Amino acid sequence: MRTSASPAPESVLVVDDEPSLRTILAFIVQRVGAVPVLAPDAATARQLAAKHSFACALIDKNLPGENGLDFLKWLRSVQPGCNALIVTAYGNVDSAIEALRLGAFDYLLKPFEVDGLEHRLKLALDQWRLRQEHERMQAMLVQADRLASLGLLAAGVVHEVNTPLAYILSNLDWLDEELPSLREGLKRQGRQGTGTELTSLAERLAAVESTLRDIREGAERVRHIARDVKAFARREDDESVLVDLREVLEAALKMALVHIRYRARVVRDYQDVPLVKANEARLAQVFLNLVVNAAQAIPEDGGDHEIRVRLWTGPNGEACAEVTDTGTGIAPEHMAHLFEPFFTTKRSGEGTGLGLFICKSIVESVDGSITVESRPGKGTTFRLGLPPHVRAARATLSAERESSAAAS
Ligand SMILES: Nc1ncnc2c1ncn2[C@@H]1O[C@H](COP(=O)(O)OP(=O)(O)OP(=O)(O)O)[C@@H](O)[C@H]1O
Ligand SMILES: [Mg+2]
Repeated sequence: MRTSASPAPESVLVVDDEPSLRTILAFIVQRVGAVPVLAPDAATARQLAAKHSFACALIDKNLPGENGLDFLKWLRSVQPGCNALIVTAYGNVDSAIEALRLGAFDYLLKPFEVDGLEHRLKLALDQWRLRQEHERMQAMLVQADRLASLGLLAAGVVHEVNTPLAYILSNLDWLDEELPSLREGLKRQGRQGTGTELTSLAERLAAVESTLRDIREGAERVRHIARDVKAFARREDDESVLVDLREVLEAALKMALVHIRYRARVVRDYQDVPLVKANEARLAQVFLNLVVNAAQAIPEDGGDHEIRVRLWTGPNGEACAEVTDTGTGIAPEHMAHLFEPFFTTKRSGEGTGLGLFICKSIVESVDGSITVESRPGKGTTFRLGLPPHVRAARATLSAERESSAAAS
């Protein structure tokens, strides 16, 4: 199954027991560019509303069984964002007040004029869209704020770590210089000392050298991690530079190592890919979200799992990137919601549901696209297409960057 980040048309629930009216209402819904979902009674409508979310609902007040106002009350409790319009042939002031009190968006009398109802439905849909946009902006603000504080915190920690790290590394350099002369001195002494003494001292010195090599390796890793975190925490948020996706993807993989390590092996398939003009830290965040999601979709059961990362040049010269996992896959009913803010299937505390929403915002800010394909039980692929800055071979990267820096 495949889906993309482009918004799906809104769904409108139509609840009316008269087949001919349902047909007319469905026609009006289609005229305003939305998708009608039809129900002949409240019981069917409840089942539908339990599974799908609706932007609006057109509800007949006099339904068989449960009446329209009781259904409205229930609908408002499960989908408070859905704008409901009550349509009735038996209107009176009391029931209109009751409907509005229960949160109906509008109250319309039958027989209605198609144009009039279409207009009212359009208003309801517009208001729903505005509210969605408002919520989206608020979520982005909260996330931007969170990221800004995280960035500051990370930058502070990196700064604190870098000072003692520089001290450790310069002392290791000094030991590297000192050790050969110690070894030489030992050899000279050995000419006077006994063979056993010499062997024991030489062995101890070799052990010291090997331990120091381990310490250097560890310190170098800390230095790399600090450098990567610094790249993520960079504050000049709007700075766009020429980015090599290989480097960004590698940085993201390194950051995600702790999530990947015991779940899957990483397979790289890097072909020539053009440079992209973007904010490096933000692009790294996109890859980090995708790779962490991939790892989280793979059970830690020791199975033979893989996360495959691919880079290549698309048919129109665009920079393409893919993250594929052999994890659980995504249920078909979740596909349409993946890029919505706060959509998550993870336990509370494990996921906020903002990862893909942010990926989409970042990718769209550079006029790129993000799509997903998934097979439940088999795995998932997220694919990015980013406009190329220039078609440049990797070898010319520094030259490209220099000329871009000179130009800016
Ligand atoms: N590779 C994947 N395999 C299976 N499901 C995925 C994959 N990527 C995303 N999903 C599904 O999409 C949902 C939304 O992902 P998203 O990254 O937006 O949020 P999250 O991972 O739940 O939380 P957050 O990223 O904010 O910590 C996930 O909860 C999961 O159900
Ligand atoms: Mg996520």
